[in-house]
Amino acid sequence: MTSTDTEQTAREQAVTDEVVASFAEAKDDRYREVMESLVRHLHAFARDVRLTQEEWDAAIAFLTRVGHLTDDRRQEFILLSDVLGLSMLTVGMNAPPQQDATESTVFGPFFVDGAPEVEPGGDIAQGAPGIPCWVSGSVRATDGSPVPGARIDVWEADEDGFYDVQYEGNRTQGRGRLRSGADGGYRFWSVRPSPYSIPADGPVGELLARGGRGPMRPAHLHFMVTAPGFRRLVTHIFVDGDEYLDRDAVFGVKDSLVYAFTERNGGTAPDGSAREGVWNEVSFDIVLAPEASSVGTAPEEAR
Ligand code: BEZ
Ligand code: FE
Repeated sequence: MTSTDTEQTAREQAVTDEVVASFAEAKDDRYREVMESLVRHLHAFARDVRLTQEEWDAAIAFLTRVGHLTDDRRQEFILLSDVLGLSMLTVGMNAPPQQDATESTVFGPFFVDGAPEVEPGGDIAQGAPGIPCWVSGSVRATDGSPVPGARIDVWEADEDGFYDVQYEGNRTQGRGRLRSGADGGYRFWSVRPSPYSIPADGPVGELLARGGRGPMRPAHLHFMVTAPGFRRLVTHIFVDGDEYLDRDAVFGVKDSLVYAFTERNGGTAPDGSAREGVWNEVSFDIVLAPEASSVGTAPEEAR
């Protein structure tokens, strides 16, 4: 290293030190810790890649577009966090796997609080296009005892790969809220989930394309399960055999969450109804962790 290099390194370090020190008077210890670390890592990143002025301009323009696209219906910032794996990293740190409990995964932007209450065996599809799918299972504690009265929110995309909220108008399809029964059991009709593209017509889509990455998520059905005394579970089940299981755009797949969706044709369904044509069946037994540690990543209003 020449003495000029050494002087440059010292000048750069002095900028970082000064900015870190500027938070020294912050009253909230946690805030100070987070901001100091953020500055150190951000500066280290800029030095690591020797960030050019043009790249800084491009990054600001990119984040500005992310902000302009974000509103009540579209959350491009969460999408950015998702495709950078930050959402899954945060899930993994805050809802670490607990022995025997069902694993968590990313929450996503398509949950709607206050979805219609559905009776056991009811149909959450409500006209959403797709192959009918019977979903059933139980909610249990890690000791195997049933959890009655657990609140089970479910939501999914239709066979065209869209959630109801992505259509114009106010349709409610492919989502519902159920309760587990006295034996912990639950059951409902829905449609077989389909793989879909995350919203890719904005800056996050460009980031993926430029990175040689795809926007697809493997087919999945979202669950959020809450019950007093248990850690809230935010998860999905994925369809076994889906072609995108090994390249989920948001890194949400865990092996333990991949389930067989068995194809049936005609006959009598588990609820006793006579079926014509193709339908699917999946069984998903949910195990809730005790409420000791902190919870997943759903936004405040979903808690
Ligand atoms: C979802 O599964 O609904 C989702 C998750 C992350 C980004 C986009 C969609
Ligand atoms: Fe989804």
